[in-house]
Amino acid sequence: MKPLVVTVTGAAGNIGYAILPRIANGDVFGQDQPVILKLLEIAPALKTLDGVRMELEDCAFPLLHKIVCTADAKEAFGDCTAAFLVGAKPRGPGMERADLLKANGPIFTGQGKAIAKAANKNVRVLVVGNPANTNALIAMHAAKGLPRESFSAMTRLDHNRAVSQIAIKAGVLGHDVSNVFIWGNHSPTMVPDTEHATIKARPLREVITDTAWLQGDFTKAIGQRGKAIIDARGASSAFSAAHAAIEHMALVFRGTKPGEITSMAVPSDGSYGTPEGLISSFPVTCPGDGSYEIVQGLQLSDWVKTKIKATCDELASERDAVKDLL
Ligand code: NAD
Ligand code: LMR
Repeated sequence: MKPLVVTVTGAAGNIGYAILPRIANGDVFGQDQPVILKLLEIAPALKTLDGVRMELEDCAFPLLHKIVCTADAKEAFGDCTAAFLVGAKPRGPGMERADLLKANGPIFTGQGKAIAKAANKNVRVLVVGNPANTNALIAMHAAKGLPRESFSAMTRLDHNRAVSQIAIKAGVLGHDVSNVFIWGNHSPTMVPDTEHATIKARPLREVITDTAWLQGDFTKAIGQRGKAIIDARGASSAFSAAHAAIEHMALVFRGTKPGEITSMAVPSDGSYGTPEGLISSFPVTCPGDGSYEIVQGLQLSDWVKTKIKATCDELASERDAVKDLL
């Protein structure tokens, strides 16, 4: 099979270190799909990146055909079919992700333009660098000529966090929990929706009857989980973020299972009252050809509708704050 070009930005960083061996091992594109890794870093980090390159070589991954390390965005995105935009500053203690907009936003203008010029026209771009939704919006606007649907931002980590906390509460395993998903912004206003979920095929609400916990401590804990990790580790989540990015792209390229729903921040088509054009998290399914479909026809409670309105208002205010980049 012809190798697929995969670009990872911020490849010498913490998430980069966790994600690269997984991609090279076939965890995204499958065990029969060779890859060429194109790794983008800022010039001062190229020496560290060279160490990462040596470690990748030392794994002798059968699927890894070539590694390119560069500080040139056009070279990094040349012919790429999948791009993981990780490179950006992480927040420190006491910051919100939106506080990173000024520092990180402009990175995505340059990279969006380079993607439009150099990448494969069918490229799929996942933005991980924070604030992920609005950075994806910036990249999407800068990538003139590419379909909007090429861009998404990551809320699979929030999705996994929600599944896991529900499983712990119910005393079951994560794979016993279905149809939990995330609406809105990757920020404390995100909405983890459990109202359509099942646990071992029973409605979640029959197993977990404590609505006050679901709408209170659970919702707050998922929204604040990134901060809790920064407070505990002194650094933001890395391997769990890398794992979520691997799953996000694997679902885009290889599809969700029948009945499986995942969470992805994608350009809104106006569904569920989310203003068109914002990049907001929705429940989606993926046929496996690089596209996705927003799940339609869900009946939302007033509580969820009010929360979606608040998270969308926040996304709209982030968009207004970067209007000079759009
Ligand atoms: P890190 O500081 O360890 O690594 C970031 C890397 O990006 C560094 O090596 C840096 O040199 C590089 N970089 C900076 N500007 C760049 C540019 N213009 N082009 C290419 N590379 C560039 O940070 P990390 O822990 O790997 O986190 C990366 C980003 O991911 C942060 O913004 C973090 O907040 C975000 N994040 C998002 C999620 C999510 O769920 N969406 C989860 C975890 C972390
Ligand atoms: C996370 O959710 O872990 C990341 O977005 C990092 C952060 O700043 O919280």
